[in-house]
Amino acid sequence: MKKIIGIACSPRPKSNSTTLLKEALRGANAAGAETELILLRKMDFSLCVGCDRCSETGKCIFNDDLVELFKKMEEVDGIITAAPVFGMGLNALGKAFVDRSQVYWAHKFALNKKPLPTRKGGVIGCAGTTFSRVFDCLTKPIKYLYKMMDISYDTELLHNPVDKPGAIKDKPDILKEAYQLGQNFL
Ligand SMILES: Cc1cc2nc3c(=O)[nH]c(=O)nc-3n(C[C@H](O)[C@H](O)[C@H](O)COP(=O)(O)O)c2cc1C
Repeated sequence: MKKIIGIACSPRPKSNSTTLLKEALRGANAAGAETELILLRKMDFSLCVGCDRCSETGKCIFNDDLVELFKKMEEVDGIITAAPVFGMGLNALGKAFVDRSQVYWAHKFALNKKPLPTRKGGVIGCAGTTFSRVFDCLTKPIKYLYKMMDISYDTELLHNPVDKPGAIKDKPDILKEAYQLGQNFL
């Protein structure tokens, strides 16, 4: 059975992007995949300190929850990352996660390791405003993460405006789009 993980970057318990992610995973599940939801806000991990040890050893100096998540991301068939726009970009929790993927940059460019088998990648984003290009600085770091980890960038659902916690629940059309994204993901 194919396995898909959803990685939720929002710090909010009633997160709009996480709600869409859950719908996507429900759709993927209905299409026959095994799914798992991972909440970054419940995980315990350090910020990248830029020590560059990973360029020598291929390993991060921190042995925390992210090490396990990265291992899981290597093993599954697909990854969907969901995040909000905070401060006109990927929110800090999501960015802290992306920065820790430096170890995969090190594998590629410092240690010349072979690429991993390609896995599928998707992105879900929510923003409170309709400013032009409001999702640019959300998708760019996630595209970078996927590139470093040999995950293809296959699909995205970027929705705005949606602001108050839980407000996405009043948008059945968008919830349906998220479900369909999951259904057609693999
Ligand atoms: C701290 C903070 C910063 C935000 N900054 C922006 C922003 O720069 N641009 C924008 O369009 N929306 C911004 N928003 C609105 C969020 O993108 C919006 O509430 C979104 O639905 C949150 O998704 P979530 O519930 O999954 O966290 C901000 C919200 C918060 C709480």
